[in-house]
Amino acid sequence: MPVRQFPPSFLWGAATAAYQIEGAWNEDGKGESVWDRFSHTPGKIEAGHTGDVACDHYHRMPEDVALMKSLGLKGYRFSISWPRVIPAGRGDANPKGLDFYDRLVDELLAAGIFPNVTLNHWDLPQALQDEGGWANRDIAGWFADYAKVMFDRLGDRVTMWATHNEPFVVAMVGYGTGRFAPGISDLSQAHRAVHHLNLAHGRAVQAFRSGGYEGRIGIVLDLHNYEPASPSPADVAACQRAQEAAQNVFLDPIFKGRYPTALFEWIKPVAPPIEPGDMDVISQPIDFLGMNHYFTFLVSYSKDGPTNSQQVFKMANGWTSSQTGWGVNPAGLTAVLARIRTEYGNPPLYISENGTATADGVSPDGKVHDDFRTRYLREHLLALHDAMQAGSNIKGYFVWSLMDNFEWASGYRPRFGMVHVDYETLKRTPKQSAFWYKQVIEKNQVSEQE
Ligand code: FCB
Repeated sequence: MPVRQFPPSFLWGAATAAYQIEGAWNEDGKGESVWDRFSHTPGKIEAGHTGDVACDHYHRMPEDVALMKSLGLKGYRFSISWPRVIPAGRGDANPKGLDFYDRLVDELLAAGIFPNVTLNHWDLPQALQDEGGWANRDIAGWFADYAKVMFDRLGDRVTMWATHNEPFVVAMVGYGTGRFAPGISDLSQAHRAVHHLNLAHGRAVQAFRSGGYEGRIGIVLDLHNYEPASPSPADVAACQRAQEAAQNVFLDPIFKGRYPTALFEWIKPVAPPIEPGDMDVISQPIDFLGMNHYFTFLVSYSKDGPTNSQQVFKMANGWTSSQTGWGVNPAGLTAVLARIRTEYGNPPLYISENGTATADGVSPDGKVHDDFRTRYLREHLLALHDAMQAGSNIKGYFVWSLMDNFEWASGYRPRFGMVHVDYETLKRTPKQSAFWYKQVIEKNQVSEQE
């Protein structure tokens, strides 16, 4: 059977985020986050779910690391809860919160698993939101101070840092549509948030460089694939705008030191103020790009919406996840990677998230038969390999997610894990896809057929 071989040093891992798995939302001195506040507000989350307990990872961390080891993972991407380590967002740190991440890192290293740490996976301290959150320019400094606390505490053992996870979602879904925390619907705040997220990223990179820490720092962006729905000039232009609004607003400042001009012209009335020197701060060189990838959008012109575009999912052979409605199109991964290679200088890149939601349950035979997930992962790894053969500089791949968890506004319904979590008993059961992934890691290869 034909197989695709990956390079010897390829980093195979799985990813999670603090709010989605930790629980212990108000224990050991942790401060409130915007997601605590949002999920405690009636009507915001499906079925009224909250992350109060989630997977109870805060209390089951050693067991979870042992599970990762048993599945053969080489890397683990997790995030730090900012309000767990600095309850008010700035000022005093919380020793017990810092201890938790200390222990997690030690446990991972003892298990031979490489830690990949994200500083902002959305759970902003509520105390900072009370001062405007990402819409307040001062946050760039608050974030850099928090980043420094973490570099100082974990920098002797952690050598891979990402500043933000999907800043587009923070800005546009948190402050634009308001579907996610903090639930604000105001485009002018959303565009300010974009710029302040960029600035905060740049300030954290500066703090990392000036502190002389060992290791690498980068950012994680959601880089889905955008295709015009038709060759009509209106659809092509709408596609360009949608892509610029979601991707170029983060990629261009970092890699090219400027914002996309056509887009800024389009959003003029709500464009964020940019001060002299800002672009120099943002365009500090980074060591790697993290890319989350799930789907392809077909984009057409629409008279509504901030970028006058409408997006629907492309489905290869009608393939879709029933739990999220996200279309599946593996070739889209190869296409985005080609764009990053040709337009952004082919930076060292990690797929920091990729995966799918399936309505899994434990069968009478004690197994979880998630064939859909295995097929999704296989096809995406083949698409990734295609990009590597074409010259993309891919260093590793992280499945979203290690285990089923709190999927933001959709609550616990979509199950993205390679490990099933019974939310009554919190029992973990590796799904069949986890065993499949284990042998991928062991052999360092993916077979072309099932
Ligand atoms: C990404 C998020 C991650 C998870 C997956 C399904 O947008 O970064 O936390 O929710 O989607």
